[in-house]
Order: sequence, then structure tokens, then C-alpha cells
Amino acid sequence: MIVILTGAGISAESGLGTFRDRDGLWTRYDLNEVATPEGFARNPGVVHAFYNARRANCREAQPNAAHVALARLEAEHAEKVLIVTQNVDDLHERAGSRNVLHMHGSLGGALCAHCAHRWPAPRVMTADDPCPACGKRRTRPDIVWFGEYPYYMEQIWEALRSARLFVSIGTSGTVYPAAAFVQDAARAGAETLELNLEGSEGASDFDACRRGPASRIVPEWVSEVLDARR
Ligand code: APR
Repeated sequence: MIVILTGAGISAESGLGTFRDRDGLWTRYDLNEVATPEGFARNPGVVHAFYNARRANCREAQPNAAHVALARLEAEHAEKVLIVTQNVDDLHERAGSRNVLHMHGSLGGALCAHCAHRWPAPRVMTADDPCPACGKRRTRPDIVWFGEYPYYMEQIWEALRSARLFVSIGTSGTVYPAAAFVQDAARAGAETLELNLEGSEGASDFDACRRGPASRIVPEWVSEVLDARR
């Protein structure tokens, strides 16, 4: 199996900002206010405004050549290809990828903080939106915030244990548990490759690294892998 971890950098050229680069989201917003359960409890309106704006940006965005190349790899490679994304946008799916796990949730989902019911997110979400299941007005974006446990971790660890190849694309390697996946995969015997604009925090943990914008280096790498099979 080929396991691919993606981060905000793969969607940067689609116009969706990263978090920690110059002018990144966390240089313009206080993550404690907009991406923690405590911030949501203090002021849900501020949190909903932040995610409503991100949801609108995502609707305007289009998958780029990197997303498209990964969908091609999944469709044409004999091995199973699994994308584990930290991203909450749906650009992988819109590019045609099917095996995608959103470990940090999705902009397209709403979650009831009272009964944990999930439903498709409305374009504009407010704290007054009633839960379709319990009727309570405790609606939040279905996003994993700092201090919360990521989704699909059992599936992800199982995939890392059986990975032949682990590839990390467009992530700074600063947020755990994703930042440790390269070590988990290497420990299980996988070959590891980083594709990133610049070296991530964990760059030295990879067998090989390539630098450049995802829209160029990901399609190049995918073509090499598929050509090598012919
Ligand atoms: N092509 C390839 N890599 C890029 C590009 C690009 N065009 N633009 C930026 N990058 C790289 C940067 O060099 C950086 O290493 O993408 C990375 C983006 O890092 P972050 O902004 O830290 O985003 P990410 O690693 O996805 O953040 C992890 O942190 O804020 C939380 O939950 C949020 O999922 C997010 C997590």
C-alpha cells in the first residue's frame, strides 16, 4: 500500500491559505479563539464566522495539478493508494480521489455538540441552527480542534503498519500525531519521501526529499512512479 499524508501546502496553489507560512491563517487569526473547544464555548459566533468564510473560499477553489495527479495514481496504480489528509477542504475528492481519510474533519460537515449527530453543513452555519436529531442549538463545524482527538486514527495506524511507501506532501510537520507518521511508517519498514516547498520539521526523518511547488513536483513524481511500472 502507498500511504500519502497531505497538508495545507497541497491546496495553497488552489487559493486556500496555509496556516504557518507568511500571511498564513494563524498569523491573522488567534487559533485559541477559532480552533479550540474553549474558544467555541466563549464565542461561537466568532468561530462560525471563521469557518463560514473558509467554507465560502473552498467553494470558489478548484483542485490543482497535485490533487489531480494523486487521483490518477489511485486510479492507475496496482497497489492501494490511501490519502490521509489534515485538510478540511474537499479538493482531493473533487479531483477524483476516493480513498481519503479526513483526520481533522471537514468543512462540509456539521456536528451537534450535544448528541454528536452529524449532517451536511449549510453554507452559513450559526450556533442557533437546531440539531436535526435532538433539536438542541449546539451546532459546531465538524472540525477537529486543538486538544481534540483526530478521526480515523485506528485505520490510519493500521495503514501505516502495512505501508510499502509513505509520502508526505505540503505539511510543516509541526502538528501531532500526523508529524510522527513518518516514524511510524519507517518503523514498519516503509520507504519514506517528502514532497514540500521547503524542509518540514521532520525532513531529516525521510529517506528522500524533493523541493518545489506541489503543482509541479507531485505530477512529476506520479508520472515517474507510473512510468516505472510499464
Ligand atoms: N507546494 C508544496 N508545499 C507547500 C506549498 C506549495 N505550493 N505552499 C506551502 N507549502 C508547505 C510549507 O512549506 C509548509 O511546510 O506546506 C506546509 C504548510 O504548513 P502549515 O501551514 O503548518 O500546514 P499543515 O502542516 O497542514 O498544518 C497542520 O495544523 O493548524 C493545524 O489542523 C491544522 O491541519 C492543520 C495542521
